[in-house]
Amino acid sequence: MSKYRIAWLPGDGVGNDVMKCARLVLDAMSFNAEYIHGDIGWEFWKSEGNALPERTKTMMQKTDCTLFGAITSKPKEEAAEELRPELQDQGFVYFSPIVQLRQEFNLHTNLRPCKAYPGNPLNYRENINIAIFRENTEGMYGGVEFYPLPQEVFDVLDRNHPKMKKFGRFGLSNIAMSTRIMSKQGCENIVTQAFEYAKNFGCKSVTVVDKPNVLRETGGLMIRTAREVAGNYPEIELWETNIDAQCMWLVKNPEDYEVIVAENMFGDILSDLCAQLVGGLGFACSGNISENYAVFEPTHGSAPKYAGLFKVNPIAMLLSVKMMLDWLGEKEKATDLESAVAAVIAEGKVRTYDMGGSNTSLEVAEVVAEQIS
Ligand code: IPM
Ligand code: MG
Repeated sequence: MSKYRIAWLPGDGVGNDVMKCARLVLDAMSFNAEYIHGDIGWEFWKSEGNALPERTKTMMQKTDCTLFGAITSKPKEEAAEELRPELQDQGFVYFSPIVQLRQEFNLHTNLRPCKAYPGNPLNYRENINIAIFRENTEGMYGGVEFYPLPQEVFDVLDRNHPKMKKFGRFGLSNIAMSTRIMSKQGCENIVTQAFEYAKNFGCKSVTVVDKPNVLRETGGLMIRTAREVAGNYPEIELWETNIDAQCMWLVKNPEDYEVIVAENMFGDILSDLCAQLVGGLGFACSGNISENYAVFEPTHGSAPKYAGLFKVNPIAMLLSVKMMLDWLGEKEKATDLESAVAAVIAEGKVRTYDMGGSNTSLEVAEVVAEQIS
């Protein structure tokens, strides 16, 4: 029997390409696992009205963790138009499967390391090494949204908040509402994860990013909670910044930041910004993590125009595999894989188009695999 059971969810577009690269490297490392394919993605939305079929979630529950490729997502109306004709107008609503997975498996912590590997021609600067901790289940991604705004919801808000009145004049059918609901537990958890990481890796500071001067309640809760948590880690400094200023500082002095923690939406934005500082989405790996389960995925999308061409950079996926190995406790294998990726980047002989090369995704994976074995 294999040591691990890994749910294998390639998804759409280049998700398939980079998953082949992942497999090539895992096999070269003689990683002792059984890989179980799961249906997910646009094809299943169109044919079944569900991009994340129940059978996939049931299968995942019997595995140690998931490796996930990429997904095509489209806005509500466009998604509805692509449904199989028999499924049209039956009340199927498209909801991003990765967001669904994060919520249904309570994968509350999204870790997104952004490292400038020496020799990467796409590095914005050298010496950037930032770990982003993004709260992964709450905030604006909580899914509590309305359009049009129901009268009942309007009335309750109007009775409870003087600022609601001014929206009444537009008419409820002209009002959309997305909520940003955050819990103290959610804030505490993500900030604690960030501090624990800082402690384990000897980082001097943790930066908590929000906008408490405007989003007084949610932002305020995040900052107050961060201060409380920071009290347990006297050797680590807590830096508090606003999201807008933080974007500016990341462009100005990215080397200053080691660990950044933020709620869901701000974490989403910051992680794309930081990804670009270290070479773009081709280098952006991530782990969606809970106490007992995790889903690892490159942050990039499905890039449908490149699907099956093996053109995109597989490094984001290979680094996600590295995170998976770490999480499973396979520290030596994780380190070997990261060293191999770093060596291939430094050597610079085999590169995909984004790095100025003309090699395929598979050729990059092959040379990484050779470095390991
Ligand atoms: C990410 C992506 C997702 C998100 C999308 C695909 C729903 O941008 O993982 O950062 O917004 O979380
Ligand atoms: Mg994103």
